[in-house]
Amino acid sequence: MNANDIGTSRISYEKGALDEATVARDPFAQFKIWLDEAVATEGLIEPNAVSVSSVAPDGQPSLRVVLLRGYDERGFVFFTNYESRKGHELDGTGKAAMLFYWGALERQIRIDGSVARISADESDKYFAKRPRGHRLSAWASKQSSVVPDRAFLEAQMREEDERFKDVEVPRPPYWGGYRVAPHAFEFWQGRRNRVHDRLAYVRDADAWKIERLSP
Ligand SMILES: Cc1cc2nc3c(=O)[nH]c(=O)nc-3n(C[C@H](O)[C@H](O)[C@H](O)COP(=O)(O)O)c2cc1C
Repeated sequence: MNANDIGTSRISYEKGALDEATVARDPFAQFKIWLDEAVATEGLIEPNAVSVSSVAPDGQPSLRVVLLRGYDERGFVFFTNYESRKGHELDGTGKAAMLFYWGALERQIRIDGSVARISADESDKYFAKRPRGHRLSAWASKQSSVVPDRAFLEAQMREEDERFKDVEVPRPPYWGGYRVAPHAFEFWQGRRNRVHDRLAYVRDADAWKIERLSP
């Protein structure tokens, strides 16, 4: 697409369909099917990139992309700085929304849920697997704070590198994982003429109810 064409460019979505009769009854199983397909799709980089929303005390929502690092029946896990903007806002409301957009597959998945920090033990295990430079940057960066310039960040990195010269870099106490525990999912598959397929999974006592939403 040419940048001048954003007002007129149109793609007809033809790549797939979503059918109540054949989707998985369990949204986590359906998520796995779609994630596996996203991973297998050539040119779809970082299929685990997911937008996470949070809401400030004044009601202002904000979004940013993070990398999904795991999921199971309990929810979807990503890692970040607990003192960042998102950290404060997620801790403040205990609620989050997530959004996966896989354009190459004409798909979107929305997840609404509650959010909580994972255990220190779980965060330690993940942190230990990160490359040393990534572990150092968790110490060097006060995420979301204003810094004077790039040189300041580079200097912070050198300082931390020196400080942890002869030891394993431990996890900073303010860095770790969050788990979003969903109470609703929506799977969206683009279709021709904008008559898209939208299947919502809503928590109904111990089961998941599947509902079709108008596009
Ligand atoms: C592809 C991609 C992956 C990212 N992954 C993470 C991540 O896993 N954790 C994280 O804290 N920030 C990640 N970021 C940076 C965030 O989008 C964001 O800039 C940062 O977390 C600060 O957000 P905040 O100020 O709202 O807290 C990623 C950004 C992109 C574009």
